[in-house]
Amino acid sequence: MSVYDLTGRKALVTGGARGLGAGMAEALARAGAAVVIGDIREDLGEATADAIKKTGADAAFLPLDVTDEASWERAIEGTIAELGGLDIVVNNAGVEITQLVADLEADDIRKMLDVNIVGTALGLKHAFRAMRPGGPAGRGGAVVNISSVAATIAFPGIAVYSATKSAIDRLTRVAAMESGKLGYGVRVNCIYPGLCPTEMGNQLAQDVVELGLFPSVPEAIGAVIGLTPAGRLAEVEDIADAVVFLASDGARFVTGAGLPVDGGMGM
Ligand SMILES: NC(=O)c1ccc[n+]([C@@H]2O[C@H](COP(=O)([O-])OP(=O)(O)OC[C@H]3O[C@@H](n4cnc5c(N)ncnc54)[C@H](O)[C@@H]3O)[C@@H](O)[C@H]2O)c1
Repeated sequence: MSVYDLTGRKALVTGGARGLGAGMAEALARAGAAVVIGDIREDLGEATADAIKKTGADAAFLPLDVTDEASWERAIEGTIAELGGLDIVVNNAGVEITQLVADLEADDIRKMLDVNIVGTALGLKHAFRAMRPGGPAGRGGAVVNISSVAATIAFPGIAVYSATKSAIDRLTRVAAMESGKLGYGVRVNCIYPGLCPTEMGNQLAQDVVELGLFPSVPEAIGAVIGLTPAGRLAEVEDIADAVVFLASDGARFVTGAGLPVDGGMGM
């Protein structure tokens, strides 16, 4: 059997209703895992879970606002009840609000800190409590946090977003250290995806034009591709397959690592 096979594993993907998270949920299910999608978008989340179920996989949607501690408690409890365990948590939910530093709005800064940093930190907390020995799932596992190439390069218009993604990088390292030292049996890694034309990625390309940083959307995208040795944008499956790898036994000796999946942009 392949070391990337996830048959019997139980996964929770935050922000899995659409975009990269939906692709991650689909890829985890293709690899054999049962998957819960946790998101604030119930309409989209139910539809994505239904589409996965139609492939014959075990999938469900549960409401989850990653910024809210009580919501995390309900979602983790609900996932374990729904799937019969929890082995994989993907902290993917995130928001990006494009602003020049000179025009930053405190409320927008706080929104990004809240979803991207508080949301990921609470995800780590509740994953550890559930998956460590003695927890309600209790058999260790893997957490994959979604950082960004924005944590490894300086791109205009995304200063605070980039800062939150750098924070996810550091959360990953310290969480992996604590998990190892305290015998939780949970590997913790992060991925730095390159620009992918999801709703977030497409919106960013429009925003940087509106801010006067690039003359047009094709030129903004062309600039990103020009900085990317692989010569193209990311596709959802590029990122999703890396999540499957880090969640699988193929990565059994990988923890506290950050994996660029960006075509070489952030090298
Ligand atoms: N698209 C890119 O180019 C790109 C590049 C690097 C990193 N990322 C990161 O990948 C992740 C997914 O990005 P995407 O492009 O799919 O974005 P997206 O906006 O298409 O999807 C984000 C999902 O997160 C959900 N979400 C937002 N706030 C939430 C909350 N408080 N609680 C639960 N769910 C919430 C949304 O409802 C949505 O389903 C994000 O963390 C993003 O920062 C994206």
